[in-house]
Amino acid sequence: MAPNDPMTEQRPVTQTAAIKITLPDAQTVTSVRHYTDRLFAFRVTRPASLRFRSGEFVMIGLMGDNGKPLLRAYSIASPAWDEELEFYSIKVPDGPLTSKLQHIRPGDQIILRPKPVGTLVHDAILPGKRLYFFSTGTGIAPFASLLREPETYERFDEVILTHTCRDVAELTYGRELVESLADDPLIGEMVGGKLRYYPTTTREDSPRMGRITTLIENGQLFEDLGVPPLNPETDRAMVCGSLAFNIDIKALLEMAGLEEGANSDPRQFVVEKAFVGDGV
Ligand SMILES: Cc1cc2nc3c(=O)[nH]c(=O)nc-3n(C[C@H](O)[C@H](O)[C@H](O)COP(=O)(O)OP(=O)(O)OC[C@H]3O[C@@H](n4cnc5c(N)ncnc54)[C@H](O)[C@@H]3O)c2cc1C
Ligand SMILES: NC(=O)c1ccc[n+]([C@@H]2O[C@H](COP(=O)([O-])OP(=O)(O)OC[C@H]3O[C@@H](n4cnc5c(N)ncnc54)[C@H](OP(=O)(O)O)[C@@H]3O)[C@@H](O)[C@H]2O)c1
Repeated sequence: MAPNDPMTEQRPVTQTAAIKITLPDAQTVTSVRHYTDRLFAFRVTRPASLRFRSGEFVMIGLMGDNGKPLLRAYSIASPAWDEELEFYSIKVPDGPLTSKLQHIRPGDQIILRPKPVGTLVHDAILPGKRLYFFSTGTGIAPFASLLREPETYERFDEVILTHTCRDVAELTYGRELVESLADDPLIGEMVGGKLRYYPTTTREDSPRMGRITTLIENGQLFEDLGVPPLNPETDRAMVCGSLAFNIDIKALLEMAGLEEGANSDPRQFVVEKAFVGDGV
């Protein structure tokens, strides 16, 4: 008897098996890693038909208690060439989705709507010398994709990732990703010497403290990296964090003369929210 032949299967149909048949756009979880009580990452199978540009986001979720899909926007943290999809997620204690999503295990299924969109893509910025990725919290997710994208290193001489979190533990996902890039068989050699990593914390002691906006304003970022201040001729930026963060960084970029771009109108910088809520 073929073990998975539905006509001859002898095992009782479990609840899991029933869910597997009914979920629309179901993908299977392949691994889960928890970083803190607020943060985790997971990987899922990739639909064969899904094409996306590194940096884009999709809608993912679970079936809600009312039997309808409960979906939220999530940046794809893996690059476009990866055979699986990776996501980096917050755990909001009372969050409709993440209060449940945080309990997924390998073998479980999630819903993934295969319609990728977003502005944090190479198509939306003009060529330049130096590319900044400015992120806070889970806003690092789209850059986890772009940091593993060969085009990032083909288009720019220097790539600078800034990641600001409240605590040191919240930096772990990004730090380990950056450390792993040197040994990456596909892009390890391209990354060498081009990528600069600039992590900062605001509420726990670490080697670099402070909001990145403050460190731009007082020039500390440029001094630490040994690069000139922001310049629209040479510098490009992608920004992803809370609404308040995005607004503040955008003001600094525009003050330096950089203009915001879009897919249809590439310019010097692009911005995307890492989450909705909390106001300014
Ligand atoms: C374009 C876009 C891309 C996104 N990509 C990601 C991603 O890659 N990873 C991710 O974890 N979330 C991401 N989000 C947020 C995500 O869509 C959900 O809001 C999040 O999963 C929480 O869902 P929830 O139903 O549990 O709570 P919700 O009801 O959606 O949110 C409840 C509250 O939790 C807070 N919150 C929500 N998301 C975050 C977050 N990521 N970081 C800090 N506080 C948050 C806000 O205050 C919000 O009002 C993205 C949002 C947008 C708009
Ligand atoms: N344990 C918990 O329960 C817990 C812990 C943390 C957060 N939360 C909640 O989760 C939500 C999101 O927290 P989060 O830490 O992921 O995101 P966040 O509040 O946006 O903070 C992430 C990082 O960005 C910095 N930042 C915030 N606004 C900025 C701005 N306008 N300009 C420059 N830097 C800015 C923060 O610095 P500052 O520290 O200076 O603000 C922090 O280092 C909040 O609503 C919070 O209440 C809960």
